Amino acid sequence: MDRLGTPTLRQRLFAWALARLNKRYERFASKYKPGLFADLSGIVVEIGPGTGANLRYFAKPGVRWIGVEPNPFMTSYLEEEAQRLGMEIDLRTGLANKLPVEDNTVDAVVSTLVLCCVNDPDRETWHMLETAGFGSLAYERITAPTPIVSPQIVGVAVKAT
Ligand SMILES: C[S@@+](CC[C@H](N)C(=O)[O-])C[C@H]1O[C@@H](n2cnc3c(N)ncnc32)[C@H](O)[C@@H]1O
Repeated sequence: MDRLGTPTLRQRLFAWALARLNKRYERFASKYKPGLFADLSGIVVEIGPGTGANLRYFAKPGVRWIGVEPNPFMTSYLEEEAQRLGMEIDLRTGLANKLPVEDNTVDAVVSTLVLCCVNDPDRETWHMLETAGFGSLAYERITAPTPIVSPQIVGVAVKAT
């Protein structure tokens, strides 16, 4: 998705399906997510949080979570999950290419399964990351048990100082 517009039936169905279908993927991803997210603290921005599969990793003291999500039908799922976790969330409507967050004000940006939804990316995400000017970049390629978007990368990029 590359622009905000009138909410569509497709978005509503996508939110409904995501809330029901991501359990198997999350079992697989739980091998990686704790290691990636455990040390994050301060202001953490999540791009495209969907129905809140990652919220559980940020429901802890010392983290202020801001979610940037274009699909308004994700809101009720996110709020329900946040309530279940006893967590306050700051959910903002927006897109990855123009985050509604001031520059240089956050400690970490996280995102899972989002770049496959961006309309016009270079699908070689690792190449974009390698040439984006990060100070350091470490990633590995993994094969997810999903019918599509099975080749994935998992990693951490750190801003150059
Ligand atoms: C496949 S879902 C993944 C949701 C969640 N991150 C997860 O791992 O379960 C993709 C999410 O990215 C959002 N999204 C799509 N295009 C986006 C964009 N350009 N900027 C931010 N979020 C976007 C979708 O609305 C959806 O919530």
